[in-house]
Amino acid sequence: MSTPIIVGNWKMNGLSADSADRAKQIVDSLATVPAAGVEVVVCPPFTQLALLGPLLKDTPVAMGAQDCHKDDKGAHTGDIAPSMLTDLGTTHVILGHSERRRDHEEVDETVREKTVSAMKAGLTPIVCIGETEDQRQSGQTEDTLGWQIKGSLPDGFAGIVAYEPVWAIGTGLAATIEDITNTVAFIRAELVRQFGDAGKSLRILYGGSVDANNAAGILAIPDVAGALVGGASLKPDAFLTIIRAVPAR
Ligand code: 13P
Repeated sequence: MSTPIIVGNWKMNGLSADSADRAKQIVDSLATVPAAGVEVVVCPPFTQLALLGPLLKDTPVAMGAQDCHKDDKGAHTGDIAPSMLTDLGTTHVILGHSERRRDHEEVDETVREKTVSAMKAGLTPIVCIGETEDQRQSGQTEDTLGWQIKGSLPDGFAGIVAYEPVWAIGTGLAATIEDITNTVAFIRAELVRQFGDAGKSLRILYGGSVDANNAAGILAIPDVAGALVGGASLKPDAFLTIIRAVPAR
């Protein structure tokens, strides 16, 4: 049975003091009442990784980044290499988030190349897939996810897949339990088709308007290994409630 994992994606929010304060609150709460058996990761903006690295070191909270470049060094102004992330104590990296696919025109091939280089650097990639509202309305959810899985995940993929329906992100409208259950079953079948036995144990997360109220239901879905949380991860109380909603497995 794979270890459940709750990942907070802080996106482009908060200055140093806000992030340090938020991280401390999460660490302190987990020190007082441990969430045994649950991996917890927070992903602050790049500029705060150097600050949060020492703060999170030797705590139950791991640190992730929100992107990385496909190369490990070179002439790429403004980009961040995977080794620069590990250098600061980063262990995870979110890749192919729909906001990067939208804002930076990242395509599956870009995501796959980044995933390869993240794995080489020893990072755990959290690769996001998900259909848009238009794709959902036109019955293309499975085709879209199938292509994204095939295109974004490299051979020998050793990471986490996050199913984030684009229409559910930041809208307060999470997918229904039934929809998540069915879509995660489809994703699992695709992973097994692509990776054989290894595809059986890859963790699949759900993301998209997960909050303190709906987390328990979503996390109780048998093949959902955890959640990728945006807005609610900015509020320590809500994030901790989500962490504590992970059922014992
Ligand atoms: P929200 O939880 O704010 O919907 O964001 C989800 C997300 O995009 C996490 O990566």
